[in-house]
Amino acid sequence: MRQSLPEDYPNKESVKRTGQALSKRQALAGDSVRFAPLRCICQVLSYARRHLHESGLLRNKAATSRPPRDKESNEMSIRDTQAWKALEQQLEAGMRDVHLKTLFQQPARFKTFSLDAAGIQLDLSKQRWTPEVRENLIALAREADVPNAIQRLLSGERVNLTEDRPALHTALRLPRDAKLEVEGVEVVSEVHATLDKMETLVDKLLDGQWRGATGKPITDVVNLGVGGSDLGPLMVTSALSDFEVKNAHEVSTHFASTMDGSQLADFLSWLNPETTLFILSSKSFGTIDTLSNASTALDWLAKRLGGDEELIKRFHFVGVSTKPEKMTEWGIAPANQLLFWDWVGGRYSLWSAIGLPIAIRVGMDNFRRLLAGAHAMDEHFRTAELEENLPVQLALVGIWNVNFLDIRSHAVLPYDGRLKHLPGYFQQLEMESNGKSVTNDEQQVDYSTCPVIWGEIGPNGQHAFYQLLHQGTQPVACDFLAPINRYNNVEDEHFREDLMAQHRLGLANCFAQSRVLMLGDDAVKSDGTPPSYKRYRGNQPSSTMLFDSLDPATLGALIALYEHKVFVQGTIWDIDSFDQWGVELGKKIATETEEIIATQQGLDSLDDSSRGLIESIWRGQQGK
Ligand code: F6P
Repeated sequence: MRQSLPEDYPNKESVKRTGQALSKRQALAGDSVRFAPLRCICQVLSYARRHLHESGLLRNKAATSRPPRDKESNEMSIRDTQAWKALEQQLEAGMRDVHLKTLFQQPARFKTFSLDAAGIQLDLSKQRWTPEVRENLIALAREADVPNAIQRLLSGERVNLTEDRPALHTALRLPRDAKLEVEGVEVVSEVHATLDKMETLVDKLLDGQWRGATGKPITDVVNLGVGGSDLGPLMVTSALSDFEVKNAHEVSTHFASTMDGSQLADFLSWLNPETTLFILSSKSFGTIDTLSNASTALDWLAKRLGGDEELIKRFHFVGVSTKPEKMTEWGIAPANQLLFWDWVGGRYSLWSAIGLPIAIRVGMDNFRRLLAGAHAMDEHFRTAELEENLPVQLALVGIWNVNFLDIRSHAVLPYDGRLKHLPGYFQQLEMESNGKSVTNDEQQVDYSTCPVIWGEIGPNGQHAFYQLLHQGTQPVACDFLAPINRYNNVEDEHFREDLMAQHRLGLANCFAQSRVLMLGDDAVKSDGTPPSYKRYRGNQPSSTMLFDSLDPATLGALIALYEHKVFVQGTIWDIDSFDQWGVELGKKIATETEEIIATQQGLDSLDDSSRGLIESIWRGQQGK
């Protein structure tokens, strides 16, 4: 006999409703189609479970404030998608153990896995994947709704869900004649108005027309900022050192970020206060690291130049922030304020007025070329099919490494000394963006997210940590980066030849290292079996990025490539790549701890270790 179903049993209509009854976040994230078929299955499972609980056949789990993701939730994990399961099957069917040397028996791997866009050639053939794995990864991107997410990002939807705002760094590099209206405001004209104000300021400095309080032209600019207000400008000014403005009044740029004052103290020991300008770079204008450096700099100027503090601020300080009122309160004259917008994340802000030190160093034309290069990559990201899309492919291979091959360490290895700050810059970009473990629906993730990003100039790393890459126990994914051309414009012929030979040496090492990491012992023919300590197992995956030369446009495209890679991975992991709540608690506790150290009160509220350490400071500072 056929039993009639209970009223609350999921039927066609209720399943449809569930698919539609999305949380505000999902709706904002355009998540309406995501995992829809799986939601139906889930709802049936949820029904069964609920009734088993009610009948006492299943015990209730202890309630927690943030329950681990389980089948009772309507929110599906990316792990429940068909593509994820297919990838797991591929892993079990041999991909987990297959060696890169075996994969390289497939013909034309380089052609199969090479991509090109905006001046960057990306070789993904040394990754431990096959065309079939790549197909499933693309299917995964589709199931995670990546194509729509890209359009939402670029059109200015509020993709930063926890802070309820867009993440529109791409708008900062739109050309002047572009249009982008976001929530009723035409942003492109605002962006270009700020760029124009920045240009006026840069020209004044480079023409020697910006004078200090005693009338002497400014010769040194010190950027006081930290995190995104430091790392981007620092990295780019170093990377574009060959593009320094020539035939202009010479202005040097310096960076001081550390709150302990050590970098600043060094600069202040030799800079001339009469000719030094400070840029206070802070999106929030509330970061203690920067404000403490600013206060020390102000005291240094006031002590040496004497006179009116207001005057000193007017001649020796520029502010870059989203908070004009805080800059004014600090004493920055409105004419010296450059603004940007809260829809620009700190680690995505070098394209805004935060890039002022870059423009001072390489000139505004080159700064605009940097923006144009990034825009070219944005256009590629927006229009290219997933199969051809560099940021998407870079992201997908990262997902394969982290979530399937379980490789959680990722080294960035530039073969160009000018890119020495690139690993540090990518560290913030990736780890602050995707170092998260809670999904957009506030569920605990049940998969790994961002790997540990680290790195160093490749040739220097060879003499430091490559030993571990070749013979250690950790799997590490590597990104090798190198320009094809270097030194071609050096005027002195002999010097040019020497330097070009050095560049060739660098390239040879770059390719040799990635080859040995891939093939291990098989990279060379050997007569016998070497002892175990001389053996190389290989099978460390890597990507290689080549670019014609390290110029502003290519660098812009390269940075944008990684920004978008981060976004695609964040979309697949279903996390907010644009907030950074994980840094807040430490700041709060530091403020309280500082109070305890300074007042010598409140020690009892701390744990035993912190008490012991603080007492050591007190004893040590009293010379006991
Ligand atoms: O504490 C982390 C952080 O907020 C970063 O995201 C940011 O780049 C950095 O601090 C500096 O912040 P601000 O530019 O507001 O001084």
